[in-house]
Amino acid sequence: MVLNFQKDTSLLPYNTFGIDVESKHFVGVKSIDELQAVLNQNKQEKLLVLGGGSNLLLTKDFEGLTLRIQNRGIEIVEQDDRKARVKVAAGENWHDFVLWCLENDLGGVENLALIPGNVGAAPIQNIGAYGVELREVFESCEAISIDTGKVKIFKKDECDFGYRNSIFKNTLKGKYIIFSVQFNLNKPPHALNISYKGLSENLEGKILNIQSIAQAVIEIRSSKLPDPKKIGNCGSFFKNPVITLIKFNDLKQQYPDIPHYPDQVDKIKIPAAWLIDTLGYKGYRNHEAGVHPNQALVLVNYGNATGADIKKLAQQIRNKVKEKFAINLEFEVNII
Ligand code: EPU
Repeated sequence: MVLNFQKDTSLLPYNTFGIDVESKHFVGVKSIDELQAVLNQNKQEKLLVLGGGSNLLLTKDFEGLTLRIQNRGIEIVEQDDRKARVKVAAGENWHDFVLWCLENDLGGVENLALIPGNVGAAPIQNIGAYGVELREVFESCEAISIDTGKVKIFKKDECDFGYRNSIFKNTLKGKYIIFSVQFNLNKPPHALNISYKGLSENLEGKILNIQSIAQAVIEIRSSKLPDPKKIGNCGSFFKNPVITLIKFNDLKQQYPDIPHYPDQVDKIKIPAAWLIDTLGYKGYRNHEAGVHPNQALVLVNYGNATGADIKKLAQQIRNKVKEKFAINLEFEVNII
């Protein structure tokens, strides 16, 4: 086994925000053996585990070892007439996996088309869009302990999935590296979900199947969200806040049209994009950092922003939201 350790490596190609910082050491791994060897050799240095780099904001050079998960492979491990269990390597690109499902007529992830990032990162924040969350198709994942190098299988009920949340962001943060994920997908007839308003509107008068849903999602996303290949971004920068019913009723007095969705009992979810938009930040630009003109939840790097510029803008927005609405916005993106 030859591990290609590099020194002072630019992380620019590995993060969708397009931030140019260096990592003191860098290595890519393609197998569990390689991953275990790296973990075994590296007991001292701080670790930064990278998948697609689509959910992190790098604010300074990283004085440790960046470990990039680069394993590949998608295979059906079990199937019957109705379902297929599919095992996907963490290093596979998420959208490529969605395309593979469409080609193989397997349903369940079509609403999650075009989400940037790799498969291994998807369970960590329980990715979700257009009425569907990853947990609905998740069966289990194979993860490697950073401390011991041992492999552990996490079944769905062990992952504590919540809105943009899982055990891997909480009690097990920094403890495990996800190396593959198994999904339960449906063979036709598929259970389709077009509950999201914009999606049902887009699909009016069209044939309904997983392919047309994915196509509609791709159209909606492309119209609202910037393509990270063209303009640096990490999708939603903030989570949608969940507030109490009492607080919501207060806000509604002042803003009768405030958009909202029911959450748990006595709780209401408010689109952070609306809060930011209402403050007039949509399309705001401060030199190289800005708020996307079509979706106020997305912060963008116009080319030469530093991570610190983006972070400053994010904090400014968070402070204003707190001041005006008395709501705390949480970052969805990991800040390193
Ligand atoms: N809105 C505004 N201004 C804007 C954008 C939206 O006021 O600039 C208001 C509108 O009232 C709109 C509502 O916010 O109806 C919701 O907007 P949208 O449907 O675009 O969804 P979102 O809540 O802003 C969430 C996810 C997205 C996901 C979409 C669609 C989070 C943090 N974000 O955004 O996920 O694509 O729903 O399901 O939950 C991501 O995580 O990176 C991401 C893009």
